[in-house]
Amino acid sequence: MPQYQGAIKSKLPKVGTTIFTVMSRLANEQNAINLSQGFPDFESSAELSELVNQAMKKGMNQYAPMAGLMSLREAIAQKTYNLYGANYHPETEITVTAGATQAIYTAIAAMVGEGDEVIIFTPAYDCYEPAIELNGGKAVFVQLHAPDYKVNWEQVKKLINQRTKMIIINTPHNPTGTVLKEADMLALEKLVSNTDIVLISDEVYEHIIFDGLQHQSAAKYPGLAERSFIISSFGKTFHNTGWKVGYCIAPENLMTEFRKAHQFIVFCVNHPVQHALAEYLKNEQHYLQLNNFYQQKRDLFLELIKESRFEVIPSSGTYFQLLSYKNISNQADTDFAIELTEKNKVASIPVSVFYHHKVDEKVLRFCVAKKAETLEKAAEILNNV
Ligand SMILES: Cc1ncc(COP(=O)(O)O)c(C=O)c1O
Repeated sequence: MPQYQGAIKSKLPKVGTTIFTVMSRLANEQNAINLSQGFPDFESSAELSELVNQAMKKGMNQYAPMAGLMSLREAIAQKTYNLYGANYHPETEITVTAGATQAIYTAIAAMVGEGDEVIIFTPAYDCYEPAIELNGGKAVFVQLHAPDYKVNWEQVKKLINQRTKMIIINTPHNPTGTVLKEADMLALEKLVSNTDIVLISDEVYEHIIFDGLQHQSAAKYPGLAERSFIISSFGKTFHNTGWKVGYCIAPENLMTEFRKAHQFIVFCVNHPVQHALAEYLKNEQHYLQLNNFYQQKRDLFLELIKESRFEVIPSSGTYFQLLSYKNISNQADTDFAIELTEKNKVASIPVSVFYHHKVDEKVLRFCVAKKAETLEKAAEILNNV
């Protein structure tokens, strides 16, 4: 195709091919075990797939309602009430989205404008910053550091000013696997009280939390809930990241603005999948057993690599495990990750890529949402590094 001859003023000049694409491509080329990108290598439930099939056969194949199927919104309202004691009205306060990514983009598009500042904690999931920039906002970074990646709320307080429009939190946290505690939520609640700051609480790993810890949803804290877009993802919960269905819950006045943007960004979301999810959510064990399921995977991986020279950075949630290689090499983490893929045949993600300032603390992220045999093969390699 002949190239476009006009001038292009990129709205995202710094964005290139992401490391996820690079590492996955490299893993394929090198025939390496791919623990880089965050998705399971096992199947989603056959029962759930059958429910999608039935919905398609029953003719649920046209546009769904703009805000989502009412039966699914009701199921989300019930789940949120049961787990966090918070009442969200399915009619006005819950919207089904094309995965969490669209929900995050939509909340930012609805709330952030030219010159607004948004505080994000790095390392951070990669979609926040470009969404802020595309909408004319400015990301303001709080750096968290290995090994505990704790938030210093006094530091956050110093960054708040008249332009601060939004703060984005993420618990359980990708890429570090850390979780916010009750004290963190209370500190944040105090910080934002008497301000106009709104929050995105990215809770896509709400059902993947270990060692008996409780997920601290923003929904549990009235001073946070009143100003939060709380976002979750069925792809993470039901092992079908490719279906791209998630949701956002927020108080009515915030949700009204969210839907104004939602209807022109996507209008509505995959109809048969929504039918199936509404049905599948009736059995709460389908999500309540997930903590155990993934804790077993994390524990297996840690047991298998316990003799290795990698140092474990504790993971309390998500399906990621960080390992430090500071006792093995002082190479840059991107170089070390590439070498590990090319030479040893295990792909991971270097944590520096999740920082705006590319902070390199010699840490790699491994995805443990894999079959036992995949984890065993990977561990055997890691033990010989
Ligand atoms: C923290 C975080 N938020 C959002 C998403 C996006 O979720 P979805 O696949 O539902 O768009 C991911 C996916 O990796 C994630 O890790």
